[in-house]
Amino acid sequence: MGKSLDLQRRVFLKSSGAAGAVAGLAGTFAAPGEAAAATPVHCPAGDATPPALSLGRLGTLRVGEPRSFHYPDARSPCLLIRMGMPTEGGVGPNQDVVAFSQLCTHMGCPVSYESGLRLLQCPCHYTTFDPERGGAMVCGQASTDLPRIDLRHDSKTDIITATGVNGRIFGRL
Ligand code: FES
Repeated sequence: MGKSLDLQRRVFLKSSGAAGAVAGLAGTFAAPGEAAAATPVHCPAGDATPPALSLGRLGTLRVGEPRSFHYPDARSPCLLIRMGMPTEGGVGPNQDVVAFSQLCTHMGCPVSYESGLRLLQCPCHYTTFDPERGGAMVCGQASTDLPRIDLRHDSKTDIITATGVNGRIFGRL
């Protein structure tokens, strides 16, 4: 009877994978004073300097009508916005052109620009960011500001160029 019960228990553990789970937990929750057999985690460095990207002529950008682009790669949507008044980090003759990652720093939903409020808002959990204050979080669930895209404006050609990312894009290292 005892032997049969023991056999049944072992069959259950083996078939359910519970033995592996239990073993895994034992490693995770080491007793105090016990040295944990830590496996080193390698975190590859992100691209330190993303390539510059031309975003077109400033003269074609209307106040309050954002232009979408992707930067520093195709998985990273961003918004280029002409605010119509000097803005923190802004480029151009009026220092009013700014750009931000569109990925909310809470859980990565794409924010949109509400021109009436002059704010960037996330439709998922309503976090709000202020493009006039460098993408600072105004309210909501996120814990960090929206990453600002560094811009450069060439006064001769009127071309705006994205030159870098200021902050951590959601889901990136
Ligand atoms: S994903 Fe934007 S507030 Fe949650």
